[in-house]
Amino acid sequence: MSNTDENKKHHEEPEIDELTKDRYLGGHEYDGIRELDNKLPRWWVYLFYVTIIFAVVYLLGYHVIKSESIKKMFPSQEDEYKSEMAALDSLRNANPQATVDLETMVPLTAPADLASGQETFKKICSVCHGQQGQGLVGPNFTDQYWIHGDTITNSISIKNLFQVVTNGVIEKGMIPYKDQLSPVQRQQVLSYILTLQGTNPPNPKAPQGKKYDKFG
Ligand code: HEC
Repeated sequence: MSNTDENKKHHEEPEIDELTKDRYLGGHEYDGIRELDNKLPRWWVYLFYVTIIFAVVYLLGYHVIKSESIKKMFPSQEDEYKSEMAALDSLRNANPQATVDLETMVPLTAPADLASGQETFKKICSVCHGQQGQGLVGPNFTDQYWIHGDTITNSISIKNLFQVVTNGVIEKGMIPYKDQLSPVQRQQVLSYILTLQGTNPPNPKAPQGKKYDKFG
């Protein structure tokens, strides 16, 4: 094709492809292959507009406008973290019973706590530890022998046992109760278990673990 032909074509009516009825794009042609000016589908074009609008809103909301009310609608990760921690704090303050502090944990002595601990024990734990805590599949709770005592301080404490009830000892058949019992319920049932020390029930299971004289 000569240059004059090329120029002429640009000023003519656009050529239409007979099959698709789309316009040919002028200006380039290789080995007889030409490009059609396909119309983009409407849905695609609208989606594209939506992404442009989204980008503008996003940019203004998160990076440009710094006013407080806009920040509330577009919080940064840091602000989101802070507000979630604040929500957690207010939840904690509203239910002080819902959490326990492992570091300072001691056995509960209030009759209501022990009664609720006993109820949990009879319902869930006695299948393996015996109705009177004498031991069956699980160890005996009435003797001074414990598997999970603290060998460093040579003492047994509710903290060590709390870890066992919370995380279980799956390979030995002790189930983790962190999803089934609240922290307070775990503390209550352990407090009850510790009242069984020295009760000498019939058919006790042989001692397991190490003997601990010290409780702390
Ligand atoms: C399916 C049987 C099973 C059930 C149910 C079960 N336990 Fe255990 N538990 C065991 C076994 C087995 C062990 C011994 C784990 C080991 O060898 O480390 C154990 C160990 C323990 C220990 C540590 C004892 C030690 O000598 O250090 C505590 C505390 C305990 N269980 C409390 C509970 C409480 C509380 C419940 C109920 C909420 C419960 N268990 C329910 C089987 C069970």
